[in-house]
Amino acid sequence: MMTQPASSPFPVSKNVSRMKPSSTLAAMQAADALRATGANVVDFGAGEPDFDTPENIKRAAAEAMRAGKTKYTPTAGTRELQEAIIDFYAREFGARYERTEVMATSGGKQALFNAIVSLINPGDEVLIPKPYWVTFPEIVVFAGGTPVFIETEETGFLLTAEMIERAITPCTKAILLNSPCNPSGRVIPPAEFKRIMELLSDRGIYAVSDECYLRFVYPPGQVFSAAGLPAELRARLCVAGSFSKTYAMTGWRMGYSLASAEWTRAMLMVQSHSTSNPTSIAQWAATEALRGPQESVATMLDEYTARRAWLLEALREIPGITCNEPEGAFYAFPNVRGCLRGKIKTSDEFARALLDQEQTVVTDGAGFGSEGYIRISYATSMAQLKEGVHRIRRFVERSI
Ligand SMILES: Cc1ncc(COP(=O)(O)O)c(C=O)c1O
Repeated sequence: MMTQPASSPFPVSKNVSRMKPSSTLAAMQAADALRATGANVVDFGAGEPDFDTPENIKRAAAEAMRAGKTKYTPTAGTRELQEAIIDFYAREFGARYERTEVMATSGGKQALFNAIVSLINPGDEVLIPKPYWVTFPEIVVFAGGTPVFIETEETGFLLTAEMIERAITPCTKAILLNSPCNPSGRVIPPAEFKRIMELLSDRGIYAVSDECYLRFVYPPGQVFSAAGLPAELRARLCVAGSFSKTYAMTGWRMGYSLASAEWTRAMLMVQSHSTSNPTSIAQWAATEALRGPQESVATMLDEYTARRAWLLEALREIPGITCNEPEGAFYAFPNVRGCLRGKIKTSDEFARALLDQEQTVVTDGAGFGSEGYIRISYATSMAQLKEGVHRIRRFVERSI
């Protein structure tokens, strides 16, 4: 019998070998490595709130644990959580969903994964507007589909129905939408969102709307969920939601999807044979998050509002940097092309040199499909924000 030599490389599957590592996780790892050397690192790489999970949510988890709610739950989540999600969308957006259309997932990421894996076949094209969250193309690749990117720089990253129309081919099966957008902070205005969904509905194209930053919108932007659209525009829609950012619950891994009963049945098949159900205790915490007091969300939004105002003003004073006003989420996405010269020719080299010379972590825009930009997360204290921007300014003035 032939045996494999011990040194032969692991035979990574074709689909996985086509996937790229996450640039946001790479930035986090670089920051950790530098911190371990004792360096005074300013970290603008983090994609998570710097707030703690509210006490009422932690208490609900502790009580669930004490009450023995520590067993498997239905694949779609507990009835209580499903109903809390349904009630939230009815209250906030006038949307009507049935339990057969709602499922709890292990983070918004699993909702996206379930949605794409249950829909996409090899050869299917999935439209992904730029800049995109790093995971979008990789999920499509994993499913054997082909990501087709839509350029949006001409409008300062505002996606329009016309841009989508130009990108549609006979192979287009779906689109991944993300408003508020990570990394650009752009929010698609409700009227434009409706036009987009009308176009998709006319063409029979499926839409996955990643609404992970749903509640973090700055006036005059409006909080909007595609779930609130009329039923005829929702037939091919899957909303992927998350507790991670809204309730500072990134480590709890709780999210959900809202989609037709047919699509949900297919997603349940994926989930039941992979993770079964999200952690039972975390489901009780998530139920309390939706049913309990919502002040923590407003407090976070107020704090982000103040940081965003300060950051935009400070960035605009740095020569060579320009920055659109983010309308949502907690990221600024400045254009640094005006600072690229000499040895620093790309935004990746900009980010690396900034880390080397000023121990300041930002994420290269190329990982989001937008070379020439960097992402700055302002989910960090005002003191860190001031120190980091001071370092960026010093770095830019020295190198240009
Ligand atoms: C745009 C976007 N979607 C989805 C997620 C996934 O969040 P989670 O899986 O923690 O719910 C993130 C996390 O950073 C994100 O930025």
